[in-house]
Amino acid sequence: MENNFLKDQIPLLTPYQMGKFQLSHRIVLAPLTRQRSYNNVPQPHAVLYYSQRATKGGFLLSEATGVSDTAQGNMDKGTERGMETHCGRKFQPNGQDPISSTDKGLAPQVRSNGIDVSRFSTPRRLRTDEIPQIVNDFKLAARNAIEAGFDGVEIHGAHGYLIDQFFKDQVNDRTDHYGGSLENRTEVGQENDQIPLLTPYQMGKFQLSHRYPDTPGIWTKEQVEAWKPIVDAVHAKGAVFFCQIWHGGRVSNTVFQPNGQAPISCTDKGLAPQVRAAGVDVVRFSTPRRLRTDEIPQVVNDFKLAARNAIEAGFDGVEIHGAHGYLIDQFFKDQVNDRTDEYGGSLENRCRFALEITEAITTEIGAYRVGIRLSPFANYMECGDSNPKALGLYMAEALNKYEVLYCHMVEPRMRTVEEKSDCPHSLVPMRKAFKGTFIVAGGYDREDGNKAVAENRADLVAYGRHFLANPDLPKRFEINAPLNKYNRETFYLSDPVVGYTDYPFLEVIS
Ligand SMILES: Cc1cc2nc3c(=O)[nH]c(=O)nc-3n(C[C@H](O)[C@H](O)[C@H](O)COP(=O)(O)O)c2cc1C
Repeated sequence: MENNFLKDQIPLLTPYQMGKFQLSHRIVLAPLTRQRSYNNVPQPHAVLYYSQRATKGGFLLSEATGVSDTAQGNMDKGTERGMETHCGRKFQPNGQDPISSTDKGLAPQVRSNGIDVSRFSTPRRLRTDEIPQIVNDFKLAARNAIEAGFDGVEIHGAHGYLIDQFFKDQVNDRTDHYGGSLENRTEVGQENDQIPLLTPYQMGKFQLSHRYPDTPGIWTKEQVEAWKPIVDAVHAKGAVFFCQIWHGGRVSNTVFQPNGQAPISCTDKGLAPQVRAAGVDVVRFSTPRRLRTDEIPQVVNDFKLAARNAIEAGFDGVEIHGAHGYLIDQFFKDQVNDRTDEYGGSLENRCRFALEITEAITTEIGAYRVGIRLSPFANYMECGDSNPKALGLYMAEALNKYEVLYCHMVEPRMRTVEEKSDCPHSLVPMRKAFKGTFIVAGGYDREDGNKAVAENRADLVAYGRHFLANPDLPKRFEINAPLNKYNRETFYLSDPVVGYTDYPFLEVIS
């Protein structure tokens, strides 16, 4: 039976119905971070890159795309825009409500030209326990100002902005110790006065990690708009395009975090510095901050809003990045997750975060356009598990409950993202347990991929490095043409062409 399949046709080139998506072949573009989205905004050069790899009925996954400003933490331009207007949810990360001392909104204001009207979203009243975080934001901003070379900072406590909203009794209607008496209403300002503005500040050595600069995001309006022409170009070629949504968690550095905060994680255990493939460059990670239990719903919400934004950008669906040692995987794996609340300890507890995200997203956009990527066997980024098979099986079964479209699993032979080694484990038990489409990835070539489909070990096969270097990979597999070799040195170059859109097509070679 299998042999006949192989003899008569090329299994990878057979059509496949993935839910409502009719695919003409089974060769998927794996998610590939390319670090060419300057300031976290997708760039026009991505139009060519993705459309080069799109075919009619093909299935493409985007590179990992940040769900919030803490996902990778590279500063975006939102703060500059915010200074102009300070009005409305569209300037807030993930379209959240602006924060204030109160939840009383502002009336729309007609601008000085008499034509434009500024509208303000109803604010969200800060909880008492959130206020120290905002105080800290001011402190870190002051520290950053000194680092930038300023001689000092002036705290803006005037003109109706946040601090003034605490000062004035027309606005401040709080009943905690930040409202009521004059003393209470000035407390936020006083705490800020304690910032040691004029003390010298040693920023430390700045040979810090630049692990993920210029990865795209999908939490601002600007990012959503920037994705649109890229998605349109892929659709014009007839391909299906999902956005991989991601949060790096502790695989980050304060350099990439808003106001230089610590990256968030399920733990406060840090990662050891890593020497990059080139053997020269050392990547350093900052000690993470353990998320409080009551903060977790906010991160789940960030994923949900990112999924909504992906649909708004035109994507056909989203892939939740639950692999490779990033935030969701940090919750999964017992080497990392040392929590004692309901998100740590048992397998069920460690999977709770991922399943809450899955539930929030499937409810928001529909399970028929939600997939998830998992790498239970990998220990990339010091993120391993003592029982990866149980973890993979638990998730495969739990995902059935949400009827997600597909489960995308990384082969156990991939110890890290790129290293392939002999391994006794297999994904077959998870493939059997999961009822939807099963995608495999990791170290596949043409022969291996054909075998996986022919033997029914997978419905689809995702290709990373080969697809990166061969924009016409499906065509090459069809005629069994030789492949371009990938060049690791240019994977993460920020160049808009080199190592990105300049890998030749077959026609060019012949
Ligand atoms: C340059 C590069 C960037 C990658 N970026 C991502 C990513 O953004 N998200 C992800 O889930 N995996 C990422 N991966 C892993 C790939 O999707 C894939 O699993 C890995 O390359 C193994 O497959 P392959 O042997 O076909 O290359 C990346 C791999 C490479 C080489």
